[in-house]
Amino acid sequence: MAVVGVFDSGSGGLSVLREIRKTLPDERYIYFADNAFCPYGEKAPSFIVERGKAITDLLLSKGAQAIVVACNTATAAAIAELRASYSIPFVGMEPAVKPAALGTRSGVVGVLATAGTLKGSKYLKTRGLYEDEVRIAERVGKGFVELVESLDLDSPHAREVVSASLQPLLDEGADTIVLGCTHYPFLLPLMKRIAPEGIRFIDPAPAVARRLADVLRMEGVPTGEFPGGSVELLSSGSFEVLNKLYLSI
Ligand code: DGL
Repeated sequence: MAVVGVFDSGSGGLSVLREIRKTLPDERYIYFADNAFCPYGEKAPSFIVERGKAITDLLLSKGAQAIVVACNTATAAAIAELRASYSIPFVGMEPAVKPAALGTRSGVVGVLATAGTLKGSKYLKTRGLYEDEVRIAERVGKGFVELVESLDLDSPHAREVVSASLQPLLDEGADTIVLGCTHYPFLLPLMKRIAPEGIRFIDPAPAVARRLADVLRMEGVPTGEFPGGSVELLSSGSFEVLNKLYLSI
């Protein structure tokens, strides 16, 4: 049985845990939500590195053999430093620009992410590989994390907040939208109601789950020996939304 740590600034990473558990159902998961410091989106990279190390130390003390950074912002800010500082493997979020660029029919890809992710070198490098072939339009999902962390997934207010960032991408001709923040999949039902039929939304979480399975195999960590697996939820702040969203995945 593998012991896998998963962390995010808050509850958003549960959208990644959901996909991981489909691929690797029989493992022990420890999920840490850094709710006391959420959101990460506009925080300094050095602060996110500091939080990443504190969370990693905690997950290691609980026996984690691999850690999934289930947060695009923390991946952008901290994963290189975490990999350099610890010997266990870290799996991060990949901006799903490649499948979006390969799949778009309109030639315009929309990316929704936090300000930190859109400024990160990994995202900028990935975008650079495709921007000659397709147009890449970006928007910060302003207020999206706050909607998810207050479980406001469907109100008229939520619709207004989500439309304000999504509609400009649709107006620019995007037919494929990359969900570049792990909180955003919880707003997907609302996004699908706002967008016209035929718009594709791409969540990188299934690819991250496959990557974790590969990494565990390469590291020789045995998997699949704990039928049904288990999940332990930890938080630096409130558990209220975390527990409720967990029940929904
Ligand atoms: N869920 C995170 C991400 O993927 C963090 C969002 C935030 O805390 O601003 O970027």
